Amino acid sequence: MIKIFDAMLLLVAIIAILSTASADSRQTYIVRMDKAKITNTFINSIGDSKPWHEGVLDSIADHVSTQQEATPPELVYSYETAFFGLAAKLSAKQLESLKKVDGFVSAIPDQMLSLHTTHSPQFLGLEGSKGSLWHSSNFESSDVIIGVIDSGIWPEHDSFQDHGMPPIPARWKGSCEKGSNFSPSNCNKKLIGARYFSKGYLASGGKINQTEENLSARDDIGHGTHTASTAAGNHVANASLFGLANGTAAGISYTARIAMYKACWGNGCSASDILAATLAAVEDGVDVLSLSLGSHADPYFEDHNAIGAFFAFTSGVFVTFSAGNSGPFESTAANTAPWIMTVAASTTDRSFPAIVKLGNGEIFEGTSLYSGKATKELPIVYGETAGSVSKGAEYCMPGSLNPKLVKGKIVICGFIGTTEMGEQVKLAGGVAMVTLNFRDEDLLADAHILPEASLGALASDAVMKYVNSTKLPTASIAFKGTSYGNRAPMVAAFSSRGPNSVGLDLIKPDVTAPGVNILAAFPAVISPSFLKSDKRRSKHKNWSPAAIKSAIMTTAYTIDNRGKPIADLGVRGSEATPFPIGSGHVDPVKASDPGLIYDITTVDYLNYLCSLKYSAAQMALFSEGFTCLEKATMQPGDLNYPSFAVNFKSKAHNTTFTYKRTMTNVGIPRSTYKVSVQAPKGVSIIVKPSVLSFKKLGEKLSYKVSFVGLKTGETGGSSFGSLVWVSKKYRVRSPIAVTWR
Ligand SMILES: *[C@@H]1O[C@H](CO)[C@@H](O)[C@H](O)[C@H]1NC(C)=O
Ligand SMILES: *[C@@H]1O[C@H](CO)[C@@H](O)[C@H](O)[C@H]1NC(C)=O
Ligand SMILES: *[C@@H]1O[C@H](CO)[C@@H](O)[C@H](O)[C@H]1NC(C)=O
Ligand SMILES: *[C@@H]1O[C@H](CO)[C@@H](O)[C@H](O)[C@H]1NC(C)=O
Ligand SMILES: *[C@@H]1O[C@H](CO)[C@@H](O)[C@H](O)[C@H]1NC(C)=O
Ligand SMILES: *[C@@H]1O[C@H](CO)[C@@H](O)[C@H](O)[C@H]1NC(C)=O
Repeated sequence: MIKIFDAMLLLVAIIAILSTASADSRQTYIVRMDKAKITNTFINSIGDSKPWHEGVLDSIADHVSTQQEATPPELVYSYETAFFGLAAKLSAKQLESLKKVDGFVSAIPDQMLSLHTTHSPQFLGLEGSKGSLWHSSNFESSDVIIGVIDSGIWPEHDSFQDHGMPPIPARWKGSCEKGSNFSPSNCNKKLIGARYFSKGYLASGGKINQTEENLSARDDIGHGTHTASTAAGNHVANASLFGLANGTAAGISYTARIAMYKACWGNGCSASDILAATLAAVEDGVDVLSLSLGSHADPYFEDHNAIGAFFAFTSGVFVTFSAGNSGPFESTAANTAPWIMTVAASTTDRSFPAIVKLGNGEIFEGTSLYSGKATKELPIVYGETAGSVSKGAEYCMPGSLNPKLVKGKIVICGFIGTTEMGEQVKLAGGVAMVTLNFRDEDLLADAHILPEASLGALASDAVMKYVNSTKLPTASIAFKGTSYGNRAPMVAAFSSRGPNSVGLDLIKPDVTAPGVNILAAFPAVISPSFLKSDKRRSKHKNWSPAAIKSAIMTTAYTIDNRGKPIADLGVRGSEATPFPIGSGHVDPVKASDPGLIYDITTVDYLNYLCSLKYSAAQMALFSEGFTCLEKATMQPGDLNYPSFAVNFKSKAHNTTFTYKRTMTNVGIPRSTYKVSVQAPKGVSIIVKPSVLSFKKLGEKLSYKVSFVGLKTGETGGSSFGSLVWVSKKYRVRSPIAVTWR
């Protein structure tokens, strides 16, 4: 009797374990459905989509009986607009059952993405520099609305005050959501919207501990406030960080409006929340959507960001994403769909120099946000001369430094110093710190609590050599405050690079810009000269996102302020190719008047997806009712993109690829352009015709460009060139990247 009872208990326990296991194995999926079929099958008299979505889930709950599954499917989001579908937490059986519903298109597992953070204020926040757009003319306020999907916002920040701003555009439909420590009165004529999206994060097991995070659009991380203030913050008079850069800090397009969509929480950003935020932003009426987050590059039909961005594009919203911080390694660029503007990170001409003078007389320039007095000449200690190597003294780990060895000295800390390392040095009685970066020339300035200098790879090697060769090495550090006019721009080593691993026929990233300042170019094309009298304003307002992107790309520059090709901090002494910088560095003023544009419509993009051999189900993710023709209408390389990526088989000789492009005249009505080609090594280029004569504005003319591979290439090898259409006034430039695969 007791035995049986035990066995039953055991059985109950096993069932309990199994059912918890099955509950745990549920996952969130983003599900796309065919609206026509679903609305035929499921009766719903109310206007919105939610009852339909609930009907679908109820039907699969009935199919998969409650004996098999303890927990019914859980609706996380019902996507209302452009994208008809839902996010739901489902078991494997429930997913199988959902796939059988007439009108099911696809289900992609939700994913946790991370913010693209950098630790360098040189790339964030402090970017107001001389020669920027707002110095170039007095401009009228623009009504551009920039939506930022990020970690929320700190609305009290000076950058979001609204003195003197005109009323909010009447077309704005967004809202300012109430939440913890956030009320509708936190929005104003500058910060016109603030919403938060957390259902996907919570459904994926993310926790929001309200003693650590505000459940509202308030920013507890700092990333979103930074991104938003750089994008469109107001001028902040006398802004200063410890007296450095004490000029006026401002986001570039400071008359633009900001709407914050918080979708990133302590442990990341869930794709289903980002999609909900994207659709909401489009509905609310943003003109630009900016995201600095992502993961790795996936095919577009598996990439939630690409799919969400596509719907934004079709609604006329210009979408920009950061390429990521996984450089300097090749093929690391994320967010590479052609309808997205993918932006690499580069430096500005501003730096915060710290001069390290070694006992042997050698002098190196590093960077520091420390602004105090210079140190005296002091002994340097490192590794075993500073403490316990087994405890990580080379990295200044907690508890590794020996106060007896460190007191009164300069401590060297390896591999990109953090403020925590500085704290350890100070705790151990050290006077100053030098942080070494052996990998590349990125100088990462942090706000240290003691005198600190951060050195790049060349200087780091020299310092190590000196320290190893001397019994009692010494050094001093001096701080020079803020310095302008440095060689710039340079691509940050951390910036993610091409070649593009998903769309081989596209160069990605598209352009480079300091941090997220890419947005600077957007208002510029709305009203080129920022003058009320400028008649071109209304015309530009009708530009498609693809036209704006073309304008930014074809006017980008590749020569720095020293007259040399833009340098790449990720590869010692090297010039940046199109793989780190795409078409080049954004020039907002030139982008306002590009002469010609390469435009792309939604149908062009759908035909492009057909050329990638997408299945009907994959196509249905992007459009309802678009079917690819049996016979291909184009090759992927024919997409009317403003740059060229050409791929040759490494063994093939004398192969030719011919691509078509069409340009629209937006410059001078009667104008003649001649082509000027710089062919990549190993390739010959033929352009037909080589002269294009436009007679009026809006006129479209096409050309064909043939790339003839003259030699067999080494697999993985690349070479670069450019194709430029030149008129009396304009240069319309496209970079060319050739890769042998
Ligand atoms: C929330 O965070 C606080 C402070 O870190 C901690 O003490 C508390 O245990 C956390 N609560 C939960 C439910 O994790
Ligand atoms: C929430 O916001 C308030 C400001 O209103 C801030 O003081 C607090 O640190 C934030 N975080 C939490 C967990 O409350
Ligand atoms: C900025 O600093 C100057 C000089 O110190 C001062 O005259 C001015 O009032 C300050 N402006 C603001 C807005 O604080
Ligand atoms: C701010 O910069 C000016 C020069 O532009 C300098 O004279 C002044 O001392 C600086 N102020 C601070 C507080 O560093
Ligand atoms: C200096 O010494 C350290 C260990 O003490 C060693 O790891 C490093 O390779 C040496 N560097 C040079 C440039 O000699
Ligand atoms: C390349 O091939 C074409 C046609 O196949 C031929 O006419 C041409 O002469 C070849 N060129 C070279 C350099 O071999």
